[in-house]
Amino acid sequence: MQTSLRELPNDLDQNRLPSHVAVIMDGNGRWAKRRGLPRIMGHRQGVDALKNLLRCCNDWGIQALTAYAFSTENWKRPAEEVDFLMTLFERVLERELQEMMAENVRIQFVGNLIALPRSLQDQIDKSMTTTQSNTGIQFTVATNYGGRQEILQAVRAIAIQVQQGKLQPDEINEELFSRHLYTANLSDPDLLIRTSGEMRLSNFLLWQMAYGELYITDTLWPDFDRKEFHQALCAYQKRDRRFGKI
Ligand code: FPP
Repeated sequence: MQTSLRELPNDLDQNRLPSHVAVIMDGNGRWAKRRGLPRIMGHRQGVDALKNLLRCCNDWGIQALTAYAFSTENWKRPAEEVDFLMTLFERVLERELQEMMAENVRIQFVGNLIALPRSLQDQIDKSMTTTQSNTGIQFTVATNYGGRQEILQAVRAIAIQVQQGKLQPDEINEELFSRHLYTANLSDPDLLIRTSGEMRLSNFLLWQMAYGELYITDTLWPDFDRKEFHQALCAYQKRDRRFGKI
């Protein structure tokens, strides 16, 4: 019998859990609008949903969680919303650092971080350095991230090595290419969850999702809770992952 929420529900097979779960946290704005609240309230609530999912993944023994917090296209949103999100990321990081240490979480940020506000970059550096020796879940936050941009920066880095004669073109294989992506230290996601019903990758982990399973739910991100995650894992465990084989 399952005795607490922190234990893996007994209809899930511990040996067939995804090692790496990725999430596109969509629907914060709609969640707020439905309640007659400003969009930013949806983002605030979205942070709580993300914290709960991180804790749940940690409790249930999932090794890596990657969340899409801000895409390279999100700069096109109204300036007040962008500013709010940047400040929110910074405050949340500052506020949650002790908790991440207590829960043994290792956090990293991926994306074009240079373009972020200086004070946010400093907070990112601090959280990554402080948690780097933790041995629990690897939590990756994609911020100012774009999958195509990530691939292009890898191509450029590899091209420079070829130009300098350090690498032969026929030495470029999938393994080498993966090592030049922001996610070099991670296995590819086994499961990508997208909330609020949209059926797109939206430039997230384009290379890494070649064989990843997609789970799309109509639930808006702030309402995505342990019960919803449990359902996603049940659906995942019913999939037949063939990786191109028969
Ligand atoms: C998409 O919903 C959500 C975002 C662009 C922001 C997600 C960010 C968080 C939940 C905060 C995470 C915080 C940290 C520190 C990692 P939307 O605004 O596109 O919603 P809509 O589609 O309903 O308009």
